[in-house]
Formats: sequence, C-alpha cells, structure tokens
Amino acid sequence: MPADPATEESARPRGTLATRTLAMPADANPNGDIFGGWVLSQMDIAGGITAGARARGRVATVAVDAMVFHRPVYVGDVLCTYADIIRIGRTSIAIHIEAWALRGSFSDTLPHAHVKVTQGTFTLVAIDDNGRPRPVPPEE
Ligand SMILES: CC(C)(COP(=O)(O)OP(=O)(O)OC[C@H]1O[C@@H](n2cnc3c(N)ncnc32)[C@H](O)[C@@H]1OP(=O)(O)O)[C@@H](O)C(=O)NCCC(=O)NCCS
Repeated sequence: MPADPATEESARPRGTLATRTLAMPADANPNGDIFGGWVLSQMDIAGGITAGARARGRVATVAVDAMVFHRPVYVGDVLCTYADIIRIGRTSIAIHIEAWALRGSFSDTLPHAHVKVTQGTFTLVAIDDNGRPRPVPPEE
C-alpha cells in the first residue's frame, strides 16, 4: 500500500497555526466520532482570523472549495488548524486551510500522533460596515 502523506513521519502542516481546540463529547455524532460540520466550523474560524488580520477588519466567507475529509476526528483529540494565504484579489483572500488532530497528548500510555484530518480552500471577502465588499488594504 502506498505511504499516506498525512501520517508519514516527515509530514508537516502547511501554513501557520491559527486555532487549537479540544474535541468534546458534545461535538460528536451518535457513533462517538466528531461531526464534520464542527471541524469545518473550526476551519472557518481559522479563515476568519487569518483573513481578518490581513484585511484589517470585517470579512465574510464567500466560498469553501476542495474540501477533503482524510481521517475521522475523535473526542479528546486536540484539533489544530493551519492557514496559508494562497491568493489576494481585489476584495477577496483565498486561504489553504488544514486541520490536524493531535492524538494521545493527555496520555502516558497511548501512542501520540499528529494526523492531517481535513483540508480545503476558504475564500473570504473584506466587507465594510454595510456588508458590501471593500478592497483588501495593501500589506503593512
Ligand atoms: C461576501 C459577499 C459580501 C460578496 O458580495 P458579492 O456581491 O457576491 O461580491 P462580488 O461578486 O463583488 O465578489 C467579491 C469577491 O469575492 C469573489 N467571489 C465571489 N464568489 C466567489 C466564489 N464562489 N468563489 C471564490 N471567490 C468568489 C469575487 O471574485 C470577488 O473577488 P475579487 O474582488 O478579489 O476579485 C456576499 O456574497 C455575502 O454577503 N455573502 C454571504 C457571506 C456570509 O454570510 N458568509 C457566512 C456564511 S454563513
């Protein structure tokens, strides 16, 4: 079987750490695994933080593309999101976002793992006080 790039020893997250949070029982489905929608919302928060800082103000998510769920997330995983700005348009910012699960970090006995669970491209638009697009300001 070919090596899985997400779990290879050399695999590293792409981008800068944007959020870090604990997957709780309330975020799980009846099987005990974490809802995809919860993971997606953490990635959306990562996009909002990253784009908001770059746009220096309000932003809104306009599109989510190329979303892939590679692996399940479990209760007790620490979900870390990483963001890498890939394009800045006139009013929009496209960001590659990955979510990685840090597993077993609270245990002396369980194996520790850092697994890429999802990735996607989030596009956010800089908006003004009326919710209309505004130009992304030049980089400081
Ligand atoms: C975001 C919003 C203000 C954009 O308004 P709009 O009239 O569609 O704006 P425009 O058509 O001028 O597009 C604005 C930018 O978004 C980009 N864009 C629009 N639709 C896109 C799509 N599907 N994928 C990627 N980029 C897109 C445009 O290319 C443009 O980028 P540029 O200025 O860098 O070239 C409006 O669509 C909106 O309010 N959407 C709801 C946002 C929201 O509530 N998000 C949370 C989801 S619950």
